[in-house]
Amino acid sequence: MTVLNWQELGCGIWKTVVGEQQDFTPLSWMSREPIYEALEQMQGATLPFAMSDIELEATGSSRILRLPLQEDEKLYGLGLHFMKMNHRGRTRFLRVNSDPKQDTGETHAPVPFLVTDQGYGLLVNTSRIVTVHCGSTVKLNETVSERVKDRNNDRRNWKATPLSDCMEVVLPQEGAELYLIGGPTVMDAVRRYNLLCGGGTLPPKWGLGFWHRVPTLYTDKEVQEEAMEFRNRDFPCDVIGLEPGWHSKSYPVTYEWAKERFPEPKKTLDALTEAGFRVNLWEHPYVSPESKLYEPLEPLSGSYSVWGGLAPDYSLPEAQRLYQEQHLQEHVSLGVSGYKQDECDGSELTGNSWMFPSHTQFPSGHDGEQMRQMYGLLFQKMTDDLFRSQNRRTYGLVRASNAGASSMPYVLYSDLYDHKQFIRALCNSSFSGLLWTPEVRRASSAEDWVRRMQAVCLSPLAMLNAWGDGTKPWSYPEVEHIIRHYIKLRMRLIPYLYTTFAQYRFQGIPPFRAMPLVMDMADGITINETGRALNTTDGAYGKKTEKLWDDQFMLGDSLLVAPMFAGEASREVLLPQGGWFGLETGERYEGGQVIQVEPGLEQMPIFVKEGAILPTIPALAHAQLPGEKVQLHLIHFGNKPGQALLYDDDGETFDYEKGDHRWAQIEVSGTGEQGDQAFKGSISEEFEALFSYDQVKWTFGANRLPEE
Ligand code: GAL
Repeated sequence: MTVLNWQELGCGIWKTVVGEQQDFTPLSWMSREPIYEALEQMQGATLPFAMSDIELEATGSSRILRLPLQEDEKLYGLGLHFMKMNHRGRTRFLRVNSDPKQDTGETHAPVPFLVTDQGYGLLVNTSRIVTVHCGSTVKLNETVSERVKDRNNDRRNWKATPLSDCMEVVLPQEGAELYLIGGPTVMDAVRRYNLLCGGGTLPPKWGLGFWHRVPTLYTDKEVQEEAMEFRNRDFPCDVIGLEPGWHSKSYPVTYEWAKERFPEPKKTLDALTEAGFRVNLWEHPYVSPESKLYEPLEPLSGSYSVWGGLAPDYSLPEAQRLYQEQHLQEHVSLGVSGYKQDECDGSELTGNSWMFPSHTQFPSGHDGEQMRQMYGLLFQKMTDDLFRSQNRRTYGLVRASNAGASSMPYVLYSDLYDHKQFIRALCNSSFSGLLWTPEVRRASSAEDWVRRMQAVCLSPLAMLNAWGDGTKPWSYPEVEHIIRHYIKLRMRLIPYLYTTFAQYRFQGIPPFRAMPLVMDMADGITINETGRALNTTDGAYGKKTEKLWDDQFMLGDSLLVAPMFAGEASREVLLPQGGWFGLETGERYEGGQVIQVEPGLEQMPIFVKEGAILPTIPALAHAQLPGEKVQLHLIHFGNKPGQALLYDDDGETFDYEKGDHRWAQIEVSGTGEQGDQAFKGSISEEFEALFSYDQVKWTFGANRLPEE
């Protein structure tokens, strides 16, 4: 047993190195300065055990890190996961995988960072695969004989997963850097992690509008016609995404425009910009022999090809330079706003034979396992750097990620398509410094279409990905008005969404928050009116299964979103303490309980906290351009006074990092008891210097979002 020597970094984070210091890790590659200022302002950190309780054991070729677990302790995070929120009792193989259909821990974004409801976090900073036994192992010399059950005669108490008092992390053979991150709450630990990684991302305002990806082989004319159809049909849209067909060759790709479909890319981009659209380009990492980049990149690539293309070693500065220069010249300087980084995931284990094997050798000396785990991060950082060099913010999509990515302007997506899993993935991402979009592609019915569209409009990236299905927001005419309404609702909420992302950027607070991040799940409301425990639900054969409320989430400080799923007419919603209003129904609920709602197809349940002040604007056809000013509508809810913050900057550049941004304080005082007049609203003088608003309109004591 080795005693670990934890070094305090200050601000509630401790670090130690096991084995040799590695020079190619998620944090070293990202090389982001922690946001010390915000870390220092946080409450004092605590750990639920003494550091000496953490053990390191060398067994044969492995090093095992052991941490104590309480009997009911829940383990969250570990990246993007579709099947479970609490990993307790399971073994997680944190390997990147493009098709994570099984509940093994493999996923597009395996992040070796976990938090527990005892209020602390652990990060293993490594470019290698990590295995975490989340309370699924019991050592022979620690086996408690009273815990051994007889399945023949005691089916009730016998469990497949043994009760374990520890979590075991199998560290890479060469060692790893470990970070212990203090609480006391789950949110504190997650915030510290995000701040350690450089804070959250702040998308450009246009990134928060609606996105539409067109069918893969569309020509420039078809793209423009479809974009204009959004304008003609009164559907807001900010971003048009082009899929593989914009490349002259794809799978592997050239990164060069297909002359037959896009003879004059600059002209096409100018026309789209003129109409208020941004253009996002699909790409993947594998370079076609037809690409001008092939020859210079060949000596800088891995020893195996993918689809006949190169898998370049972008950990090398020269390879980065070639990629960035080509992208700048051929796309970014023409006006391209960002990328969808596809297929930088993949795994040998699920039959994805298209990925380079883990024994691939790269010129930098890294092997295929490391490159696979890191590939998503390499592309995120390279493209973010590229846009930074132009003082332009980007926002895009990526299919692989790892630790240290909170500051990256990228949202994860998948080819999987289960709607419930999509919402769970959205919730789970919030523990790991990740963003996820429950993108819409097609639907099994108009109802499914509405339910998916409603949810995506209240997510980190509101996107219809019609690359293969050719769907449009108006594809189901009978429900077109509902879709338009929700896209417009998102557009109205942009000032609120933007402020919420600014909290992520500067304070490390995730914009979309799973319920365990915002409330103590055992907080005085463990029993609902039917008498059942809040955190369990009746499973098959009368067994209690855990209910973690992984189908609802908080969006920022004031909104709770409870998506509906096709085939379900009603649902339960867990409301934290306090007063709540149905944002679109006006009904008031007392929090601290589980309620039942039956919203009808026209509505998705969204709740707003009493006392909240929502900053909104009119639903524009696309997000405001820098310098474009509109009226700000501040909507205060209920009978309680309230406070809120409003963040603003130019919405597009990095000037905000040099101080060119404002936080205005908004306050409503008084009570609504004698009618509206009794409330008084104020907004601090910073408002005068905000970038996007020319006047303020107030609504006090609302019980629902007023019509526009
Ligand atoms: C998939 C991706 C899809 C689409 C498609 C194009 O890998 O997940 O969204 O972009 O490639 O070939």
